[in-house]
Amino acid sequence: MTDKPHLLVVNSFHAETVRVLDSLYQTHHLWQQSALEKEKLIADLEGKCRAAVTKSWHCDDLVYRLNSLELIACYGVGVDAIDFAKTRSQNIVVSNTPDVLNDAVADIALALILSTLRDTVNADKFMRSKQWANGPFKFGRGLAGKTLGIIGLGRIGEAIVHRALPFKMKIAYHNRAPKNLPYHYYPSIAELAAAADVLLCLLPGGADTKNLIGTEVFRKLGSQGIFINVGRGSSVDEDALIEALSSGLIAGAGLDVYAHEPAVPEALLSMPQTVLLPHIGSATSATRRDMGDLVLQNLQAFFAGKPLISAVNQP
Ligand code: NAP
Ligand code: 8YV
Repeated sequence: MTDKPHLLVVNSFHAETVRVLDSLYQTHHLWQQSALEKEKLIADLEGKCRAAVTKSWHCDDLVYRLNSLELIACYGVGVDAIDFAKTRSQNIVVSNTPDVLNDAVADIALALILSTLRDTVNADKFMRSKQWANGPFKFGRGLAGKTLGIIGLGRIGEAIVHRALPFKMKIAYHNRAPKNLPYHYYPSIAELAAAADVLLCLLPGGADTKNLIGTEVFRKLGSQGIFINVGRGSSVDEDALIEALSSGLIAGAGLDVYAHEPAVPEALLSMPQTVLLPHIGSATSATRRDMGDLVLQNLQAFFAGKPLISAVNQP
């Protein structure tokens, strides 16, 4: 017998954190079970298990069958995996891992802005294919004086602004409502796109933002415009993005997120005007550890009957 609390581990995420969870709790790894075993596990845990942990962009609807569930602790800041209609009606609280990843994601955003404008990936290919001796690489474009239009200027967006300003970029943004910030606010994504040289998406995923960015936005961004996405792939109509890139409606794109990860359309992979990263915004060893620590702190607070460290305000 052990008096360690039961904990449902919905899926596989940061291995280091999961090892600590295994040592602190009676963990039950839902993702390792067959469909039949999952049903049995949920039935067995009824009345005994009050908390579950999951990566933040993917969960399993079976968790909502566990009536004794009171907490879902997410590893990640985006909470698009959570069915808030169910968590609200079942009085389940949700935690996530905000702020600790701002710097890492902002670094990747700047890397995408720099590499698309200065064409560094193609320059690297140019070197490796030994073309330099035949003549210089084509000219790129600088960041200074360009307008960076941010869709979804929140915690990560502010960290990006702190990096973009020393590069002498001008900042503009669109959120659902203006903030008390000294940057130009545009009431629609299309208006922001028209003003931006680089349009950067940091929208959360979910039904409210699905395909918000499509052909009309790309038309406004224009033939010299660059589109960057470090938010969620679901907020972009990926077919419209491919069409905009191949027809020259926009000049290029730097992407860390995709509509159907880990699938990436062949068309995007084969275009020289895209820079593609495999959802690595928060992927530094230290940041991933900090995210795990925040999951652990939230669980610790929950089981001690204390307020969560980072509770999600449920929509
Ligand atoms: P945040 O602080 O909540 O910022 C998001 C901003 O988006 C808010 O300021 C919000 O402002 C705005 N927003 C939300 N819904 C909107 C809508 N329908 N239209 C226009 N604006 C909207 O979140 P964050 O911590 O910066 O994270 C942002 C997102 O980045 C996450 O949700 C996640 O999807 C993504 N992310 C990606 C990675 C990666 O590895 N690439 C890593 C971490 C996070 P209003 O409420 O005023 O509209
Ligand atoms: C992922 C992210 O969570 O925090 C988010 O919303 O998108 C990322 O940090 C990360 O890939 C861990 O699964």
